[in-house]
Amino acid sequence: MKTRITEMLGIQHPIIQGGMHYVGFAELAAAVSNAGGLGIITGLTQKTPDNLAREIERCKAMTDKPFGVNLTFLPVVDAPDYPGFVDVICESGIKIVETAGNNPQEYLPKLKENGVKIIHKCTTVRHAKKAVSIGVDALSIDGFECGGHPGEDDIPNMILLPRAADELDIPFVASGGMADARSLVASLAMGAEGMNMGTRFVATKEAPVHDNVKQAILNATELDTRLVMRPLRNTERVLTNDAVERLIKKEKELGSNIKFEDIAPEVAGVYPKVMLEGDMDAGAWSCGMVAGLVYDIPSVQELVDRIMRDAESMIRGRLTDMLD
Ligand SMILES: Cc1cc2nc3c(=O)[nH]c(=O)nc-3n(C[C@H](O)[C@H](O)[C@H](O)COP(=O)(O)O)c2cc1C
Repeated sequence: MKTRITEMLGIQHPIIQGGMHYVGFAELAAAVSNAGGLGIITGLTQKTPDNLAREIERCKAMTDKPFGVNLTFLPVVDAPDYPGFVDVICESGIKIVETAGNNPQEYLPKLKENGVKIIHKCTTVRHAKKAVSIGVDALSIDGFECGGHPGEDDIPNMILLPRAADELDIPFVASGGMADARSLVASLAMGAEGMNMGTRFVATKEAPVHDNVKQAILNATELDTRLVMRPLRNTERVLTNDAVERLIKKEKELGSNIKFEDIAPEVAGVYPKVMLEGDMDAGAWSCGMVAGLVYDIPSVQELVDRIMRDAESMIRGRLTDMLD
């Protein structure tokens, strides 16, 4: 399948694996790229620019296909060494960066001078248009369904994607709630040039996370996610567990007086415990409603092949038959 995104990124299939904290290591990124999609290493999981440089080299040893790096710009006072990460990305010859979170503007000139294509992930048409105005190359439009940070406007993809298509000239992929060929074909119909998946890729053989995490996604339904940190305007969609229910209770009790410190036990430093040790009640971790559409733990190659095969037969078969 050829779209503006496959052409821009030099990939075979219009499928991207979004950056995921403590999931987007070289193993997963390489598996997705080897399967013909775009794998992405999560920059901040690497803590330091030197570590990121090593992770990029590990990924290069596992694939000769293009892969990218995610840079998430967090709303924190003690910012990570973003200039250092950007230097490493440029020096390593990475040509695709997924930005997310706060405005990445100050880092765009250096990235663009080095021939890096920027895919900015955002959750509103307003933010998408702003990103276009600062010169990003493509967008990942992340609907309210998504695992992780859906923003504060709560627009599901059934509305957000056609709205994006109406307002944007640069190519975009659909993100949030994407699981299979139906997701891809529907996204293309709504104006996207491909799709970005997070949760679905966690439940694959190559995702280098504890098996408990994959089983939790497999066992979850579309009813099992919760929104947390809304009072802090840093909303995150997570899989429910004891810690999450405790967190939500605190949010109800403290109301608008709540501070990050109040919920730190449930959210700070949680990812390594969940993803690496498999401690499923350690705290809140991102997961999308799409968990309800995850029925197996295939290899990445099996998953991508299945999506592309089913998408083609859906377009050539069921949809075309409706016209004939
Ligand atoms: C476990 C997990 C961790 C994530 N971490 C990040 C992150 O560090 N940076 C980021 O930009 N997005 C992150 N995301 C969001 C994904 O890149 C992607 O946008 C989202 O998962 C899409 O929604 P879906 O889960 O319904 O596919 C994370 C998602 C998950 C499930």
